[in-house]
Amino acid sequence: MYYKIDFDNIKLDFDANEFWVLDQKLLPFEEKYISLKSVNDVYNVIKEMNVRGAPLIGVVALLGLYLGNSLENDMEFLKSARPTAVNIFNYFNQFKKYLGNHQNYKEKIVDFIFEVIETEEERNINIAKNGLNLIKGLIEEDKKVVNFLTHCNTGSLATVGLGTALGIIKYTHREYSGKKVCVWVDETRPYLQGSRLTAWELKREGIDFKIITDNSAAYVMSQGLVDFVIVGADRIARNGDTSNKIGTLNLAVLCKYFNIPFVVAAPNSSVDYNLDNLALFHVEERNKEEVIKIGEIFLTDKDYEVYNPSFDITPHTLIDYIVLDTGVYSRPYGF
Ligand code: MRU
Repeated sequence: MYYKIDFDNIKLDFDANEFWVLDQKLLPFEEKYISLKSVNDVYNVIKEMNVRGAPLIGVVALLGLYLGNSLENDMEFLKSARPTAVNIFNYFNQFKKYLGNHQNYKEKIVDFIFEVIETEEERNINIAKNGLNLIKGLIEEDKKVVNFLTHCNTGSLATVGLGTALGIIKYTHREYSGKKVCVWVDETRPYLQGSRLTAWELKREGIDFKIITDNSAAYVMSQGLVDFVIVGADRIARNGDTSNKIGTLNLAVLCKYFNIPFVVAAPNSSVDYNLDNLALFHVEERNKEEVIKIGEIFLTDKDYEVYNPSFDITPHTLIDYIVLDTGVYSRPYGF
């Protein structure tokens, strides 16, 4: 059975026991696929960020279970590749419930994977619809241009559908007649998901955008050039605290100062119903090379100490709206 999802970021061949993922490290310069034939291959593409984005790594991790042979061990192994995004954890727990007492998990996992993919595609559309309703309610009728600022990549590359935060932006561009959409794209140091991946998607979609360095956001906001900041989430606690790509918290603080709506968009699979808040949550820290090197070129002395947290935590008090597939929520959050 051969299956490829709309956007081509993963291709699946269950009969051949082989899957392919678009290598996001090479974008926007090359569109090449990496073949996955074992649970180790899957671990490596998640760990090395050839695939990234909370919902996508969740789905790719399920492919790892299909390719592996020891359910419990493989689950622990794959969860350790990128521990911040809750999607992997949620899909694995759901799969255990789905299995019930069934002994042979290989017989059940293919149907489960397709169910997850279809559910996520649908969730993305519902997030986009809910997001557009929110925007329509906040934008004045006579304003012709809607200016977004976004961080990291939350589009089709990060999901198995339209996207989450970027999905709302795309949907607004497609469906909000009479309004022009412009996007400020944070470059998103150190991995450059913004300048490489979000820009690539916006270009394909025909949406106007400009890349800015992460430290330009305050200045752009101070000029009145941002109507909404809209970002994704790797994990949302029950009280609305949100872990997302490092730099998200900076934007939330700035939005408070400049009185700009700060919006988080995510599917239900990114909500951690087991955590009341993220006050003590420990996020993934990544290697120093991501900060001091680009390719083989050193940007500074290789012996300098570096701290490279991959995510930060935005407290719910700084988040004006959380857009899920189930609706638009505001404080006090209680998921
Ligand atoms: O390190 P990444 O690129 O996996 O981080 C991605 C993000 O932080 C996204 O905002 C998040 O996963 C949501 S993707 C729909």
